[in-house]
Amino acid sequence: MKQITIPLPDDFHIHLRQGDALREYAKTASLQFGRVLAMPNTVPPLTTPEQLKKYREEILDATSATAPHFEVYLTFKLNKNYSENELTELRKQGAIAAKYYPFGVTTNSQDGIKNIEDLYPTISLLEKLNFVLCLHGEEPNAFCLDREKEFLKHLSKLAKEFPNLRIVLEHISSAEAAEAVLNLPATVAATITVHHLILTLDDIIGDSLMPHHFCKPLPKFPKDRDAVRAVAFSGNPKFFLGTDSAPHTKEKKECCCGAAGVYSAPVAIPILITEFENAGKLELLENFVAGFGADFYGLPRQTKKITYIKENQKIPETVDGSVPLYAGTEILYSPL
Ligand code: NCD
Ligand code: ZN
Repeated sequence: MKQITIPLPDDFHIHLRQGDALREYAKTASLQFGRVLAMPNTVPPLTTPEQLKKYREEILDATSATAPHFEVYLTFKLNKNYSENELTELRKQGAIAAKYYPFGVTTNSQDGIKNIEDLYPTISLLEKLNFVLCLHGEEPNAFCLDREKEFLKHLSKLAKEFPNLRIVLEHISSAEAAEAVLNLPATVAATITVHHLILTLDDIIGDSLMPHHFCKPLPKFPKDRDAVRAVAFSGNPKFFLGTDSAPHTKEKKECCCGAAGVYSAPVAIPILITEFENAGKLELLENFVAGFGADFYGLPRQTKKITYIKENQKIPETVDGSVPLYAGTEILYSPL
């Protein structure tokens, strides 16, 4: 294959951060994606309609010159109970999903929740108002490689208690999570990142310590990566792209207490083309990056297109002050 034209991809899980960095991260994202769902674990967290309004304006301001078509959908942090009125106001400012972080499991989750049932009053309202619930599915006190598996009991319970609530288990990383989502009703879906399709724990600590591959949930055993690949390449509409592109400055990653997160936005789509092509599943790429996610969220499918050509692209050592996935190497596809 020499070139491929696909709808401009959607990213249903991205971190655009805040302040000056936001402008750069948003601009980079807007060149790769037509629409993104931005995560709320900024500092301070996104929890009010006023904050959402300002955040959206900042993102659109940063991207309007280079990508005027770029659309951003927002999440808010489910770190307390919200009233129906608050939820309605958040919706008016572009929120389509609430994001749940368990206490302490990832970047900026010190305000996370210790007992998900404490939030059932709000979760019931999310169901009523037709929001999506996005879950960071890791159990705080479990052993690091078991955290996702241990969380799955909460997922099953939520799906049962709130049968009309759409739930996304974010960035799945284990065979057990893939299996659970497969077996739960159609209201439960999962996002898949580029890095969890590619990496295992070996790529973080198997040889030299690779801080730029360190992220939550941790990439796990080869069997887990293979299970994630199997569902991604299956054409099952429950599984779609959410890159979890999570940039931190080079200094914050290369230090004695490094931050978790892989900066994948600059390379996500060319890498996915290669991965789907090598798996012999190129015909399924379009739905994975620009179909199933939109369908699940109830958004119209993207009509704009983008073409990638098979031409090597050298990935810089840093992009926007952060080290991207595949930094310093050549990847196979480039946007036309
Ligand atoms: C994310 C971040 O840095 O915001 N980090 C990560 O390792 N994935 C948060 C998250 O999605 O867990
Ligand atoms: Zn994330």
